[in-house]
Amino acid sequence: PAPDQLVVAVDGPSGSGKSTVCKRVAAALGLRYLDTGAMYRALTWWALERGTDLDDADAVAALAVALPLELGQDPAAPTVRVAGTDVSAAIRTTRISEAVSAVAGNLAVRAELVRRQQALVAPGGVVAEGRDITTVVAPDAPVRILLTAREDARLARRAQEVHGTADAAALAATRDQVLARDARDSRVARFLDAADDGVVQVDSSDMGVEETVATVLEVVARLTGVR
Ligand code: DC
Repeated sequence: PAPDQLVVAVDGPSGSGKSTVCKRVAAALGLRYLDTGAMYRALTWWALERGTDLDDADAVAALAVALPLELGQDPAAPTVRVAGTDVSAAIRTTRISEAVSAVAGNLAVRAELVRRQQALVAPGGVVAEGRDITTVVAPDAPVRILLTAREDARLARRAQEVHGTADAAALAATRDQVLARDARDSRVARFLDAADDGVVQVDSSDMGVEETVATVLEVVARLTGVR
């Protein structure tokens, strides 16, 4: 593909460093950055804002179809707006993180958001990250990567992110939350199955951000010749 039509599809669990790495890779290659998790989070925010019962599958699906969502895809400053309100920070709160898997598990919601994601990916020139990008959203992407990390590494990163330290107390406080979230996520999208057919697995456990970005860029160069 021409460099500006390239599609880089990246899946992985929370704490794999996916968002940080994908933004950096997109910036390095001059591509857009599409955070599909932010779309599930934005819908969750909107549903809670409207007082919709998240267990009412039909009501949440109807909201998904009508969701007035705008994504700013500049990797240096990605933004998420719902009905004109910037929710970029609001969608990262614990309240949303805990509610979002109920929304992401709604199959009618997934159909609608996948449809929108495919429209955003279609022109190319994008790094798209999520849980089902390599399998469902962009299975024909020239670059498909599964970014993984061992559980201990993911826990330490999340503790650092939330508590500013990864000492024993912070790890303990983070552990239940992260493991509960993993369990909920794994019921939603069995993204780890993607590891087979031509998906390149990158384990970030023992690498810093720079090294992980360099590794992903190497994979892109090897598969497409784009550097
Ligand atoms: O990556 P994240 O934490 O922002 O994802 C938020 C939630 O959405 C999480 O429960 C996984 C889910 N998700 C999904 O089911 N499919 C995607 N393509 C992206 C995220």
